[in-house]
Amino acid sequence: MTGQAPVAVITGGANGLGATIVQALLDAEYRVVIADIDRAAADRLAAALGERALAIETDMREPASVEAVLDRAMEAFGLPWLWVNNACVMAARPVLEITPEEFDQALAVNLRGTFLGCQRFARRLRDAERHGRIVNIGSLAGQNGGSATGAHYAASKGGVHTLGKVFARDLAPLGITVNTISPGPLDLPSVARTIGADRVDAVRRMIPTGDFIAAASVARMVVELARPDQGGMTGATIDMNGGLYLR
Ligand SMILES: NC(=O)c1ccc[n+]([C@@H]2O[C@H](COP(=O)([O-])OP(=O)(O)OC[C@H]3O[C@@H](n4cnc5c(N)ncnc54)[C@H](O)[C@@H]3O)[C@@H](O)[C@H]2O)c1
Repeated sequence: MTGQAPVAVITGGANGLGATIVQALLDAEYRVVIADIDRAAADRLAAALGERALAIETDMREPASVEAVLDRAMEAFGLPWLWVNNACVMAARPVLEITPEEFDQALAVNLRGTFLGCQRFARRLRDAERHGRIVNIGSLAGQNGGSATGAHYAASKGGVHTLGKVFARDLAPLGITVNTISPGPLDLPSVARTIGADRVDAVRRMIPTGDFIAAASVARMVVELARPDQGGMTGATIDMNGGLYLR
């Protein structure tokens, strides 16, 4: 990190957990790039946050789009220190009904998108001989299959967890750490949207600690993992699941 305010890119940063992470990083004095396919929401959020926030319309499935985010972020703010792979499609559907197209779509955004984010950001750091941080947002579904979401979503998140370990191993000599946060059900609208409002209370009752996990506490964990003095922590998967899954 240089003397200037560090720069972070948050994919899927326009809504939900991503927007909460954006706010936590702003509070920690970062300049933030909101990279999201939802242009209207990204523009609205950046406008509300002021000059330390920049919105870039992005499709994480496409390498050229990921490269364009890095180009624009570097023009506006300089080389990022932190990249957060948070963009996703969440989906619930019985396993016997998932179509090949739905399967591919979940894998393309959640897994291929995370792969591209890690790879393209790390290449820029390597070329500039700079250190950095990557935080991937996984999911409890990627560890235990999940309680309500579909096989395509769960499988993509299992892939995100594995990908994080391989990137951590290969990027460690470059001074780039890669860690994964694995949340259980969060206090966000996406839960009701995905599983149906009628099932929300039943899911809440299943959580041993008694309630949904706070998105704000996940966001604070991102800030912690991104600290320059966390260089020794890499390849970790941090469970934040209210006790739903113990290992
Ligand atoms: N909500 C939960 O309970 C929960 C639990 C565990 C893990 N997670 C993880 O947290 C992260 C955020 O989830 P959320 O609940 O905020 O979901 P959300 O649907 O509210 O937000 C996802 C964001 O990703 C963006 N996006 C979708 N496709 C994209 C693409 N191709 N390129 C760029 N951006 C794209 C969307 O526009 C949206 O802003 C995800 O990785 C999700 O898997 C969520």
